Amino acid sequence: MTQFQQFKSRRQIFAARMESGVAIIPTAPEQLRNRDAHYPYRFDSYFYYLTGFREPEAVLVIIAASRDTAAKHILFCREKNQEREIWDGFRYGPDAAKEVFGFDEAYPIAQLDELLPKLLINQPAVYAAFGHDQSWNQRIIGWLNQVREQSRAGAAPPAEIHDYRIVLDDMRLIKTSDELQIMQRAADISTQAHQRAMQTTCPGMREYEIEAELLYTFYRHGAQAPAYTSIIAGGANACVLHYVENNAELKSGDLLLIDAGCELDGYASDITRTFPISGRFTPQQRDIYQLVLAAQIEAIAQVKPGNRWNDPHQAALRVLAQGFIDLGLCQGSVDAILETEDYKRFYMHKTGHWLGMDVHDVGEYKQQGDWREFQPGMVLTVEPGCYIRPADNVPEHFWNIGIRIEDDVLVTHTGHEILTTAAPKTIPEIEELMQ
Ligand code: GLY
Ligand code: MN
Ligand code: MN
Repeated sequence: MTQFQQFKSRRQIFAARMESGVAIIPTAPEQLRNRDAHYPYRFDSYFYYLTGFREPEAVLVIIAASRDTAAKHILFCREKNQEREIWDGFRYGPDAAKEVFGFDEAYPIAQLDELLPKLLINQPAVYAAFGHDQSWNQRIIGWLNQVREQSRAGAAPPAEIHDYRIVLDDMRLIKTSDELQIMQRAADISTQAHQRAMQTTCPGMREYEIEAELLYTFYRHGAQAPAYTSIIAGGANACVLHYVENNAELKSGDLLLIDAGCELDGYASDITRTFPISGRFTPQQRDIYQLVLAAQIEAIAQVKPGNRWNDPHQAALRVLAQGFIDLGLCQGSVDAILETEDYKRFYMHKTGHWLGMDVHDVGEYKQQGDWREFQPGMVLTVEPGCYIRPADNVPEHFWNIGIRIEDDVLVTHTGHEILTTAAPKTIPEIEELMQ
């Protein structure tokens, strides 16, 4: 079994679920950053999930089995090109790609417009991601029209249009053991990065110096990229939910919120830790931190088969609302605070999201109107927080405290497993590591 067998198995499952027709799944285009400089290339997640193929300018075509033909997996990719390989590096070319990745056929990407209309003739359905990319919409419609123009020769275009993402989202939501191994390794690298950040941080440094420590750890352990732009937010910056400037000075007495995770072999990790820049929490920081930690622990306890997507969020909200009452931040009963959503002054986001190839991974959160039930193999984040901006009716000693604690959690048959426990999370663990 080659390392690419798992991708072939996924293609087989996908082809069986399609039932009939042709799926056209392009990878992502290269993106220009400015003039001749490109953004680092990242393949399309759906394409990679079914191929393991990392080069740009590639398209996967899957033809489902019909009454008299077996399913067929076809790759279109760049041709070998000695001149371009001198400048840009190795490319497989169709022949080697077919062998190594186990496709039934492979052709140069330059033949796509010539061959695709032929592959679509008299097929019952086409599966595409219409609406995702305007140029692909136009191109596929062009192929369908070419087939239509041959109607007097007996050629008919597919009568049905389906979205392959609907089939693949359900597959991607339940991770295989191959995927979970990668996700655990990604999580391990990211927990090491957070540990290093805690050990390095001291007053007077700038946020970007800590970002550099995180990136250093990601790359030195083989991660290809951060899974998203790292948030390194000291003091009041932690109350800006998508803060990415990462250039302020770190001040003694403030907290540092770090939301950062690496991407390894196509899979994201996503961790947030918040810790005192001086190494010791103040009493007010301690109160809020313990509250967010209690909410997170209670939320994680809800992650088990049979429970539903929203249960962790509801559990976190109840803990936070009671805490806000106890600390004088909200008035009234827990139920009243949940009803009026008064908690949103301090906690305005949801408690997590699916995690996988994309940091906010695919998968429906509701089915037939009800929150989805957890099933073994799902991976999600659990990330409650509390962000206190200066306001008239808020005790001043809480102003500018921003805390989030985020772990990556796998649903197992018996409950859950936290992939990111190695990143210190309790106050004693954090204060000890920072000594
Ligand atoms: N880092 C993105 C998120 O926590 O959702
Ligand atoms: Mn997250
Ligand atoms: Mn995050």
